[in-house]
Amino acid sequence: MKSKNITPVDFGITREMREARNGHKGACIWLTGLSGSGKSTIAKALVDKLFEMGCQTKVLDGDNIRHGLCSDLGFSSEDRSENIRRIAEVAKLFVHNGTIVICAFISPFQKDRDFARSIIDEGHFFETYINCDIEVCKERDPKGLYKKALAGEITGFTGIDSPYEIPNRPEIVIDTSIVEVEETINEIICILAQKSFIYV
Ligand code: ADX
Repeated sequence: MKSKNITPVDFGITREMREARNGHKGACIWLTGLSGSGKSTIAKALVDKLFEMGCQTKVLDGDNIRHGLCSDLGFSSEDRSENIRRIAEVAKLFVHNGTIVICAFISPFQKDRDFARSIIDEGHFFETYINCDIEVCKERDPKGLYKKALAGEITGFTGIDSPYEIPNRPEIVIDTSIVEVEETINEIICILAQKSFIYV
């Protein structure tokens, strides 16, 4: 049961103060898309590039988070929502810390991504749709999960027997079936620079 007797404390050091020290703004780059669409590959290349540029960064990735913070959750709609709620709260903390946090989660439901957007400082959330044809994802099948899902060994698999809702107002759209990783990274870096989140 939710406790009533809690009062938030303001610790004084603001996001802006941390951003001034870091030399860039805090942001949440939220990568959403099917399993096998390239989210983790893009997150890895992007964090490498931002790190090399001297930015404070963190990656939160589906398979990793589900080994720790969300190890008690499965893949029902309710559990996926709770998964995204927890991650969004963690991402919010990183953004307040002036960090560029890259979140790579299928996050199939618009309402859950909208929740993440709603709790992160306005303008600091970049919903990034990693668009990839499901046939290409099935062909890539890096973890052999589509094969299992199609054989009925996994149920509730996104894109097979569980829905994926295409983002309705993403800041960034990448089609990984036609665009190379390096080009994708450059596009995201350009958008962050244009919006004065980073300086190149
Ligand atoms: S989400 O839907 O709740 O956002 P999340 O990104 O955390 O998913 O985890 C997705 C990863 O879990 C996939 O990359 C895949 O490796 C694994 N996985 C296991 N079962 C499923 C399933 N039923 N649907 C989707 N992904 C699954």
